[in-house]
Amino acid sequence: PLDGPLAGRHVLVTAGPTHEPIDPVRYIANRSSGMQGFAIAAAAARQGARVTLVSGPVHLPTPPGVERIDVESAREMNDAVRAALPADVAVMVAAVADWRPKDFVETKLKKRGSAPPVLVLTENPDILAGIGADPALRPGLLIGFAAETDDVLRYATDKRRRKGADWIVANDVSFGADGGSVMGGAENTVHIVTADGVEHLPTLPKDQVADAIVERIALALR
Ligand code: C5P
Repeated sequence: PLDGPLAGRHVLVTAGPTHEPIDPVRYIANRSSGMQGFAIAAAAARQGARVTLVSGPVHLPTPPGVERIDVESAREMNDAVRAALPADVAVMVAAVADWRPKDFVETKLKKRGSAPPVLVLTENPDILAGIGADPALRPGLLIGFAAETDDVLRYATDKRRRKGADWIVANDVSFGADGGSVMGGAENTVHIVTADGVEHLPTLPKDQVADAIVERIALALR
């Protein structure tokens, strides 16, 4: 499949949540299903790109023609992403945990009738910002995602500058009245924030959102 508008291009995609271990049997996670990132990897491969997909723990099949690297924690994802570079485009869709437990406990925490343990957290590396700030690593087109529950466009515009990204794809992940959400759901409503302004896409199935983003990537690289 080395035909198509992205033939000869290397596209790096991150997807899914990260798991941040507490002890051998417990971790901190989030609600990301990985669906949007996997759909983008699949769409890029269909357009002829060589695709590396760095994925957190998800229950999804590897899309055809995609090289998948599985990781668990944010730090593992950071290492895998850096090892997979250089790329022409990086699309950072993963819902990377901002924090991890400061100390990993080597043996299972026990109740022992005493007070519950206090979890002390520490900050994870920001994978997107780290690459955005490093000219030796930065792909020509660097795309981040912003999952917000409020003031979506203001935070996304700010995030674009702060993380050194070219585009931020913003979506509203606030919960609906039925408890349903973008995270884990089949559809997404995104706004593409670039240096030139904002493009609003209609609510679409995630694979169609992916096609729209990949189409714009192909145009930008032309
Ligand atoms: O700051 P926030 O988590 O909202 O930023 C979201 C964007 O940054 C996404 O593209 C996500 O993949 C990326 N990110 C990252 N490393 C982190 C946190 C977020 O690459 N530690």
